[in-house]
Amino acid sequence: MKLLEAKDHLEMSRLAADIILEQVCNKSNSVLGLATGGTVLKTYQELILNHKENDISFAQVRTFNLDEYVGLSKKHENSYHSYMQKHLFNHIDIQSSNTFLPNGEAEDLERECISYEAMIDHMGGIDLQLLGIGQNGHIGFNEPGTSFNSKTHIIELEESTKLANSRYFNSLDEVPTHAVTMGISTIMQSRKILLLASGQHKASILHQLFKSDVTLDIPATILRNHPNVIIIADQEALSELHQLEGNVYAQ
Ligand code: GLP
Repeated sequence: MKLLEAKDHLEMSRLAADIILEQVCNKSNSVLGLATGGTVLKTYQELILNHKENDISFAQVRTFNLDEYVGLSKKHENSYHSYMQKHLFNHIDIQSSNTFLPNGEAEDLERECISYEAMIDHMGGIDLQLLGIGQNGHIGFNEPGTSFNSKTHIIELEESTKLANSRYFNSLDEVPTHAVTMGISTIMQSRKILLLASGQHKASILHQLFKSDVTLDIPATILRNHPNVIIIADQEALSELHQLEGNVYAQ
């Protein structure tokens, strides 16, 4: 894993956007794996800015999102479908037929998982997967204990995850209990992975990501086995590593 140290959230976002833009410029029909959450918002704003000011086109780009809540209408303001429209897709020239998210409203969710996986394969696999990280080490919605061999599947969200995401809902009770998420094996098949971490609340998990052995208890540790991972973290997220190491390192 290669670690890039950013001064702050803005610098992290700009560095991340640069890597995504480089991917799109080198391969105009890139398949991007996309994430939701607070960490990646500014990165999306930077992509929009580059689209508007520097004419970077996403017309041929295909995208697959990591996850979607089960049972939430696509139109619900907290669905990841809405998030992507609002924070990225509506502001760039991507074709909506090229944007894919799991359908959390599917009548047959098992079948939805299989067809989502098949669609990723059909598009040639993911060139660059963007990831955030949960405070419990989840990637996508792959909670601790999820098999490293997992493909797209349905997962019951941990209490801590629901609590973390309840900030977007009126109450904790409104947070869906389940989600459809790309599996860990799906994520690991991406040719390149870009994980972002920002803020003091990510300092502990980032420290564990670098120092812990690969363990099911911290799903993100599997990334240590991937040959092409870049982690971009800001100073706050790196604070526990810095405390213990005295400096930043890459391995
Ligand atoms: C969410 C998403 C993840 C995201 C993570 C961190 O639950 N399913 O894809 O990376 O948790 O979110 P945030 O960036 O808001 O801290």
